[in-house]
Amino acid sequence: MEEKTLLCALVFILLSTSVVAIRPERSPVAVVRRATLENGLGLTPQMGWNSWNHFSCNINEDIIRQIADAMVDTGLAKLGYDYLNIDDCWAAYARDSQGNLAANPSTFPSGIKALADYVHGKGLKLGVYSDAGSRTCSNQMPGSLGYEEQDAKTFASWGVDYLKYDNCNDQGLSPQPRYVNMSKALLNSGRDIFFSLCEWGVNDPATWASGVGNSWRTTGDIQDNWGSMTAIADANDKWASYARPGGWNDPDMLEVGNGGMSTEEYRSHFSIWALAKAPLLIGCDIRSMRNDTKEILSNHNVIAVNQDALGVQGRKVLQDGDQEVWAGSLSGGRVAVVLWNRGSDEASITASWSSIGLNESTVVDAHDLWTGEVTSSVQGQLKETVATHACKMYVLTPK
Ligand SMILES: *[C@@H]1O[C@H](CO)[C@@H](O)[C@H](O)[C@H]1NC(C)=O
Ligand SMILES: *[C@@H]1O[C@H](CO)[C@@H](O)[C@H](O)[C@H]1NC(C)=O
Ligand SMILES: *[C@@H]1O[C@H](CO)[C@@H](O)[C@H](O)[C@H]1NC(C)=O
Repeated sequence: MEEKTLLCALVFILLSTSVVAIRPERSPVAVVRRATLENGLGLTPQMGWNSWNHFSCNINEDIIRQIADAMVDTGLAKLGYDYLNIDDCWAAYARDSQGNLAANPSTFPSGIKALADYVHGKGLKLGVYSDAGSRTCSNQMPGSLGYEEQDAKTFASWGVDYLKYDNCNDQGLSPQPRYVNMSKALLNSGRDIFFSLCEWGVNDPATWASGVGNSWRTTGDIQDNWGSMTAIADANDKWASYARPGGWNDPDMLEVGNGGMSTEEYRSHFSIWALAKAPLLIGCDIRSMRNDTKEILSNHNVIAVNQDALGVQGRKVLQDGDQEVWAGSLSGGRVAVVLWNRGSDEASITASWSSIGLNESTVVDAHDLWTGEVTSSVQGQLKETVATHACKMYVLTPK
């Protein structure tokens, strides 16, 4: 215990007084190349919308249809947000007489197949939710434990494209076999269904889930505030070396536009999620989002960093008190960089080429993804003043 306390104090002093360069070899477990899930999906992080962060259980088929309309009308669909995912509370309290899951008759009276047809008609894909336990987290619908084959076939027969699979009411069974069983059932279902594991990072899924799912949650649920968002960004960062096309770390869905953070805080949230190759799943009511929300969610250059074909998760490479540099490689020898000021005063932040993986002598064009400005012939370092809780995000292209 005393040793631990001493170590904590030491780490605290280091973090608070000096620049800490964070090296990739600090990742907790050595990287082993693993097979990805054999459904060919998730070659870039999934993009779309999910009902939970804004609506929780207060959903119905009219809302989902209106969100589908809004996805297209706002231009978000064209930018790549194509999954429309219904979270908990879509199903009836009990299974039907054949043991099948059924839609809640009062809130989804037309059924999920009709909704999938509608969503597909808009050029989008439909996701649903279930749980690797006896009941879902709301307790309002059955879970799929022991019904994996049956439920996967039901989802496939409805035209479902995506399953988010939660971890409540686990009956005392460890996560891995419960998630593996649903993974196999989905592969046997006759339809390519994106598999999103949501076991909250409790059993370090980054170390075992790459052949099981297309993404895995690395943390508990995000909340719509600065403290939660920054803590989750850090917790997710330690698994960066496990992300790759077909299997992504998932620090949970976006809160951008839900009202609990400032515009600059939401811009930071979106920039870091994009850099970290996190799923970009919008969590606000896009039928009535504000202009600043739409501007953040619609930045196609930031989205392009997230969707870059190389699929390397950017990570925190430097920490100097509350000032941080996050960076990651992109295709074509380019580098994405975020200068993030987590302190309460404006501050100057410097990203030196050595900290972001560029040769000292390399000359780049620096494209500021939020202002659109391009600075040509930058060499050695990038130094900028950043407002409180704000970030600046760049793509550096070597000449
Ligand atoms: C997984 O499926 C196998 C084969 O059906 C079964 O024997 C096992 O009990 C299941 N495991 C869990 C944790 O549900
Ligand atoms: C939001 O954007 C619309 C369309 O670009 C514009 O007409 C409106 O004035 C803007 N509203 C605010 C509050 O900026
Ligand atoms: C950096 O660039 C110089 C000049 O092109 C080259 O000689 C050197 O090998 C490079 N260093 C690394 C680490 O790539």
